[in-house]
Order: sequence, then structure tokens, then C-alpha cells
Amino acid sequence: MRSAERLHPAMTVNSTILVTGGAGFIGANFVLAKVGERNDVVVNLDKLTYAGNLENLATLNGNPRHVFAQGDICDRALADRLLAMHKPRAIVHFAAESHVDRSIHGPGEFVRTNVNGTFTLLEAARAHWQKLDTAARDRFRFVHVSTDEVYGSLDADDPPFTETHPYAPNSPYAASKAASDHLVRAYFHTYGLPVVTTNCSNNYGPFQFPEKLIPLTLANALAGKPLPLYGDGRNVRDWLYVEDHCAAISAVLDRGLPGQVYNIGGRNEIANIDIVKTLCALLDELKPSADGPYARLITFVKDRAGHDRRYAINAHKIARELGWRPAETFSTGIRKTVQWYLAHPEWIARVQSGKYREWIDLNYGEVA
Ligand code: NAD
Ligand code: TYD
Repeated sequence: MRSAERLHPAMTVNSTILVTGGAGFIGANFVLAKVGERNDVVVNLDKLTYAGNLENLATLNGNPRHVFAQGDICDRALADRLLAMHKPRAIVHFAAESHVDRSIHGPGEFVRTNVNGTFTLLEAARAHWQKLDTAARDRFRFVHVSTDEVYGSLDADDPPFTETHPYAPNSPYAASKAASDHLVRAYFHTYGLPVVTTNCSNNYGPFQFPEKLIPLTLANALAGKPLPLYGDGRNVRDWLYVEDHCAAISAVLDRGLPGQVYNIGGRNEIANIDIVKTLCALLDELKPSADGPYARLITFVKDRAGHDRRYAINAHKIARELGWRPAETFSTGIRKTVQWYLAHPEWIARVQSGKYREWIDLNYGEVA
């Protein structure tokens, strides 16, 4: 039809995505990238727990392509309402309790949000999807954002995790994510819901809450506080810059096949002690302290209970099948990250007020 051909593509194709957890670290980076793209409208469902921070999305204030809905993914009626009202072409599901140490102190909330919340969302998505016409059903996607921690711990010379690696979660966080992955898988096999799951390695970058290793180290160093390393500091993680993770999720959303799992990682296996020393060296260069090198603050503390020794991702499948590769190396990504935290002291200060202080006291006692 001629008139339709002349319309802006956003008016002919449903470009709305329902994102859960879009005020958190990775979700906010994803929403910022998506709303920056030409056609996408993002409906952002987030409970705003301690980890959700609307300040991360301040640049979208007044932008009609970002619709924020504060609410809980365990609230079925709310999920139904949002799906009926906005008719998204996809759900991208980030919302979760995400911090391993918190899951050790209080696993209940992890089971509630990560297991029950994902189940509630799957049920709402299934009911919505079944009512769509054939074309919309074929196009619909439920992208479930998960973690490499579901695979458990590797020994030093084990090969990196592939998508067929057996599940062996060791923390309540990892177990709750593993349970959610299994539910997502079952909804494909049982109901045909077009789900795609991603299992990604450790992320770093702007807007990461300063309870995770990299932002905690930066915030503490700048405040002249101890830089706590668990155990011998030799546990290894495989680090990926957050914007590369978001690009991978976009590739999965656009080209991922229903029922498939894609591992995402940056081939950057680094021991925690080397991460912290790298951060100290970058701070020595970019914001030297009058008290001497930041590495003087490194402090070894009691190990995390059940601390996984090593994670490593084999990301060949997503590279081969979807053409995704990370744009950043660790040295470019970590420099950008340090520069971002140095440029946003007020963000750190505001996040560190209130509940964050209570958490520091619970986890570290008098050390931090
Ligand atoms: P985050 O903790 O920074 O953010 C989580 C967001 O979810 C917050 O905005 C929070 O308010 C929201 N939320 C929590 N419970 C909710 C609920 N019941 N209802 C609605 N919203 C709720 O987490 P993140 O680091 O951005 O991780 C996002 C996702 O990516 C998680 O599913 C996590 O398992 C996964 N993941 C994270 C990493 C990483 O290194 N951070 C790596 C791989 C996978
Ligand atoms: P973290 O950022 O909590 O991510 P995850 O547990 O999901 O991998 O921790 C990254 C690594 O850093 C992990 O091996 C635990 C370690 N770590 C410390 O040594 N000290 C700390 O204060 C924190 C928060 C983490």
C-alpha cells in the first residue's frame, strides 16, 4: 500500500520492547542503547530495589520512547496489564537479585525474584503470546538474561564453558538463576514460547553498583579505604565490558533462534588480584593520591563461602551464528570504566548513602 510505504518504519512495525530490570546496571546500559536506536520504544518494568537507580536513565527524562513502570515481576496482574497495553514484540528479562554475597546472607529474596518472578513473567508472556496472530507470534521473543555462574566452577586447566556444559550452581544466586534458566527452557519445549537464553560472564562498566568488585575497589580507593580481596585473591573471572554484553543481547534479540542458548564472554580471564592492581595503576595515573600508590590499600579478607575458583566462557557459538564479537579489549574497557567513575563522583556518593551503608556493615564489619 503506497501510503503505508511512505510511513516512518516505526509506524508500520511494532518496535516496542518490554525490558525488566532496566534501572539496574546492565539493564540501564541496554535501555540507553535501545532508546538511542531509531525505532525502539522501551517499556521498563523495574521494582527499584537497592540496585535500581533511575538516575542511570536521567538522560531519557521526557523522552516518549522510554516508558517507566515501577513494579515487581512477581506481580502477574501488572505484567498482564503492561503486555495488553503496550503489545511489545519482545521481552528482555534482566530483573534479578544479582549479588552473590547478598545471596549468601539472604537467599529468600533470590528465590522470590529470580525463580518466582521469572515464572510469573513466563506465564504472562505465554498468555499474551497465545493471543497474538500468526505473524506476531512468529516474531515474538522472550530473551532471558542469565549468567555463566550456573555452570559452577572450573579448575585451572579445564576448557571454558560451552552451552552444553552441565549445570552445577554453587551459590544461592547461581542456583536461583539456574532454576530460572530451566523454567525458560521448559516453556519452549512444552508450550513453544519463543525463548532465547544468554549466559554471560562478569560485566564491568558505567552504572555498576559499588558492591561488586570493580566499582567497590574504585569507590574505596578514592575514599582512601581498604580494597578487600577475598581469600588469596587468585579467583579468576572472565570480564566483559557492559556495552559489549548489551550488543550481544541485541544480536540475540534480532537474530537468535527460539529455544537456543548463547554463551557471551570477552576471553578476558583475570585473577581478582590483577584486576585490583590494574585499577590501582590506572588511578595512580589518572588521579594520583598524595598518600602514595593506591595498591597500599589492598587488604586480604576472609574468603567468600563456597567461592567459585574460576569462570571462563567459550563464546564461539554467538560469534559463528550471530556474528557478535566484543568491541572492547579489557585494557580499553577498563580505562573507560575508570574514567567514567572519576567523572561521576556525585553518582557514587548518592548511591553510597542510605541502604548501601547498611550493606557494607553487614558484609565487611569494621574492615571497610
Ligand atoms: P542489578 O542488580 O544491577 O540490577 C537488577 C535490577 O532488577 C535493578 O534495577 C532492580 O531494581 C531490578 N529488580 C530486582 N528485583 C526486581 C523485581 N522483583 N521486580 C522488578 N525489578 C526488580 O543487576 P545487573 O548486574 O544489571 O544484572 C542484570 C541481569 O544480568 C541479571 O539477571 C543478572 O543475573 C544477569 N547477569 C549479570 C552479570 C553481571 O556481571 N552483573 C553477568 C551475567 C549476567
Ligand atoms: P563480584 O563482583 O561480586 O562478582 P561475582 O561474584 O558474580 O563473580 O566478585 C568478583 C570476584 O571478586 C569474585 O571472585 C569475588 C571477588 N571479590 C573480592 O575479592 N572482594 C570483594 O570485596 C568483592 C565484592 C568481590
